[in-house]
Formats: sequence, C-alpha cells, structure tokens
Amino acid sequence: MKKIILLFIFSFLLINCKDVVKKEKTTGLITQKAMVVSARIEASKIGSEILKNGGNAFDAMAATDLALAVAYPFAGNLGGGGFMVYRKADGEIGALDYREKAPLAADRDMYLDNEGNVVKEKSTLGAMAVGVPGTLAGIFTAHKKFGTMPMSEILKPVIALAKRGVVVTKKQEDRIKNYQALFLKANKDSIPLSKKWKENDTIKYPALAETLIRIQQNGVDEFYKGETAKKMVSFIQANGGIITLEDLAKYEARWRTPVTFKYDNLKIISMSPPSSGGVALAQIMKAIEPYDLDQFGHNSTKSIQVITEAERRAYADRSFFLGDPDFVTIPQQELISKEYATKRMADFSFEKATKSADVSHGNIEIVESDETTHYSIVDQFGNAVSVTTTLNGAYGSKLYSPELGFFFNNEMDDFSSKPGVPNMFGLIGAKANEIHPEKRMLSSMTPTIVEKNGKLFMVVGTPGGSTIITSVLQTILNVHEYKMGMQEAVNAARFHHQWLPDVVKMEPKSFDKQAISELKDLGYTIDETTSRIIGKVSAILVLPNASLEGGADKRGDDTAVGF
Ligand code: DON
Repeated sequence: MKKIILLFIFSFLLINCKDVVKKEKTTGLITQKAMVVSARIEASKIGSEILKNGGNAFDAMAATDLALAVAYPFAGNLGGGGFMVYRKADGEIGALDYREKAPLAADRDMYLDNEGNVVKEKSTLGAMAVGVPGTLAGIFTAHKKFGTMPMSEILKPVIALAKRGVVVTKKQEDRIKNYQALFLKANKDSIPLSKKWKENDTIKYPALAETLIRIQQNGVDEFYKGETAKKMVSFIQANGGIITLEDLAKYEARWRTPVTFKYDNLKIISMSPPSSGGVALAQIMKAIEPYDLDQFGHNSTKSIQVITEAERRAYADRSFFLGDPDFVTIPQQELISKEYATKRMADFSFEKATKSADVSHGNIEIVESDETTHYSIVDQFGNAVSVTTTLNGAYGSKLYSPELGFFFNNEMDDFSSKPGVPNMFGLIGAKANEIHPEKRMLSSMTPTIVEKNGKLFMVVGTPGGSTIITSVLQTILNVHEYKMGMQEAVNAARFHHQWLPDVVKMEPKSFDKQAISELKDLGYTIDETTSRIIGKVSAILVLPNASLEGGADKRGDDTAVGF
C-alpha cells in the first residue's frame, strides 16, 4: 500500500512538474514593477535603466526610441516617424502623431510618368521617397509634456551605445545581407552597412553619435532648424529630393484623440487617423463581438471565418474612407459604431466565404514584411506607453547620410500614388489618401493600450505593414477570448486578410490541416506558402496579481527587460 501511495505521489509530482515546465516555456519575463519590450535588448535595457533611475514611461520612451535608432537601423530611426498612445496611472489617455508629412513641393501625381503610370521605385527608393521626418519632434513633444528627467541625461546612454557599438545578431546579419544591392542603388556608393557584417561583429555608429551629441546640446531645433537640418537638406537635395529647410522648420507633432471603444469588459485605446489602425481595429472587433469566439476555439475554422470576414469588410472601408484628418473628413464615429458593424456583417454566413469582389472590386498582390518597430512600456508609477515607429520599408528609402549617420524613410509610398494601384503592402487607396503638400500619409500602425474593468490590462503593438492591425487584433483576442498568457499570445500562429487580394495569408505550417481544408471547402483561398512574418509583437500584460508579463516576439530579436 505504501508503495502504491508513493507511486501515486511521485506520478502526481511528475505530472505537475511537467505542467510547470510547459508553462515556463510559454511564459514571458515576469516583473513586479516596470517593463520595456522592444525589438532589441540594448534598447529595452536602456529604457528599463531610465525607469530604474527614477524616470517615467515618457522618459523611457525617449530613451528606448533613440536607442532603437542606434541598435535597430532596420526600423528604429531619426529619419522616420511614428505614433504614441499613452495611458497615465490616473487613467488619462492620449495619442501623439509624429507621422512624416509630404514636402511642400509634393504633388498628387509626383510618382507618375507622362502616360500617368506609376514610376517603379520612385516612391520607395532614394530621396524622392522621403517624407519630412517626425521622430525627433514626437520624442521631444512627448517629453516636454510628461517627461521628468532632463533630455541630456536620457541621451547619455544612447550616445554611449552609438560610440561603443552594437553586436550583430544572426537575424540582423541576414537582413543586412539581403539589402546590399538596394543600399548601393540608393546611395551610389558604399555605406557603413555595406560591409559583410557577421553575427557577433560590433558595428559602431560614430557619425550618429555626433548627431545625437548636437541634439543633446541644442535640443530638437538642432534637427529641424540647426546645423543638422542644413546638412540634411543639402544631402537630400544633392540626391534628387525635394525636402527644404522650410519643410523641416514647419514640422510639428500633433496631439490626437485616440480611438476608444468597448469590447466585452475591455476598453481598447488605439491610434487615430492618420493611422487607420484604431479605426480598423474597432471596426473588426465590433463586427466579431457578437460571436462566441471562445466557444469556437483558437484558430478553429469558425473563428478564422468570422475574423476574416470582419477584416475583409474593414479593409475595404479603410481604402476608401481613411486619410489625414487634417485634409479629409472621416466618418469615424459611424465606422466604429455597433450599428454599422451589424450592417456590414449582415450578409456574412458560416455556409460560404463572401467574395471580396462583392464587397468592392480590384485584384492585387500583397507583400508583407516587418520593417517597422514597436515597443511597449509600463513604468513603476503605473503609466503605460505604446509606440510604433517606422522608416516604412526595411532601412526606409535605403538612402543613408554618412555624415549624419542615419537612414531616411520611404514613407511617401504609404500615400496612394494613383487610385487603385497598390502600394508596397498591396494596399490600395482612393482620394482620401492622395498626395498633397504637408499632408500625412495613411498608416496601419496600431499602438494600442487595453483596459479591463477600468484598469490597465495590456500594452501592445507590432510592425508588419498592412498586417499590423490584424496582428494586434489576434494578440488581444488570444489573451481575452482564448485565455493565453502574454508570451503565448504573441507566439501563437497568425493569419491575415485585407480585402484585396482575396486571400487568407497564414503563417506556414502553423495551422490545423483540417481547419484549412474546411476553409477551402467554404470557398476561402488560403496562402500558406509565401507568408514570411505576420507581425512581430512587443506587448506587456498586467497579471491578476499586478505583476507584468512581457510578450517579446520570437519572430525577431525582441526582448523584455524590467524589474
Ligand atoms: O505606416 C504604415 O502603415 C507603414 N509604413 C508601416 C510599415 C511597416 O510596418 C513596415 N514593416 N512591415
């Protein structure tokens, strides 16, 4: 009998140990007070150190953002732009738009030839692709309003990192290799990233360190009006671009009212136009709210169907209605209302896929990638910051100023160069997103904060072009509907539909074969073959005991750091 009892206890322990091990594998970093999750460990560390030294989430935002400009030139930037959504410990929420703008000399047809056709690469490669950068204005504007540490202090570890250099990861080695031909094409000469960098090499950024030192000494005007501005304009113009000193001097970040909506007992706070992120996320979530996703199961046929159909309808609207709110009128409240969602889903049936051609028209290619970057911060005071920042394509326009030490964006491609012609993410646009001097191009970036029962619950966002919105959506649903932890929710396989092309993109070899075959029978076209990455999420979850769990995407070098 004793033996049997011992055996029983032993087996019980073994089973429980296994559970613990299994759980450990899918649980992200847990900390008690504060956390930064970003695309590079160096940036997360610098942000977390700022918090440890008494700074708040907005101080850490400046530090993390600038550290990403050093450690992650693929997407971190001085020459790009971004969006920030915040929620302060007292519940105050807001959003900051530091999206790039079209230069004053831009015009609607600037990317068309005499026959009215889009000129290949003109909006993606080299100086003509560059929008007026917003990143420095964004960082300084947020810091001025909410920061507590002097910017000169915040910049210190960032400058030290640029001088000391950054160790190349395997993923980075591969990325740098992939873009060699385009670096040469855009710059007509080699640039520091042109060398054959290998994993574990250290890349130093002395020119960028000098630029950052000037910004440390002279503040944000250094970038928009000072010596850096002058160097930047003469460099861009020497390479055939149209940005002027006036463009830089006129640039301002804008405070916006975030998009907010309810989903069950959650309140979602996300980015407003000129990003489509918050509006599209709201439209999709409102459309799926009446369905029992948790009963259907994670990535089950029925869940995929409902989510896909909601996405199809939201992306069709995106391409027609959305653009820079300073230039176009957006029926935002109607688009995100429950009534509108019900109307849009009225013709959905579980019996058969809706055809995108019946929702609207067109037939185009999707190209998805992950060249933006997102970071999430929760500080020890309870403030939360969610930031997505980008150069648009990988290393932006590939145009790199050796003197200033950074790449310039190719955000102009996010405008609709010509109605109905897809941009690099396969997104098509209409009049609402046509080019106009000083207009901000439509974005999909979706920095988001979620409250549950009135308290901070999640900070989430991702790169991924058009797949950003659907990746943020699935991460929230994975936690709320499918009861996953943060890291597990980030790791889970993702799919994406964007109206056109009429295809459900799925991460390869990650979905249940039976679900795929059922979806095909229902009339869905599934593409598992060419998907690379659908999003690369950086997120933080507040656990029931108030500790924090990080979700750092295994698809990249993302890392959570905190205390
Ligand atoms: O603002 C946007 O929607 C795009 N420029 C984001 C680009 C992006 O996510 C690049 N990586 N995929």
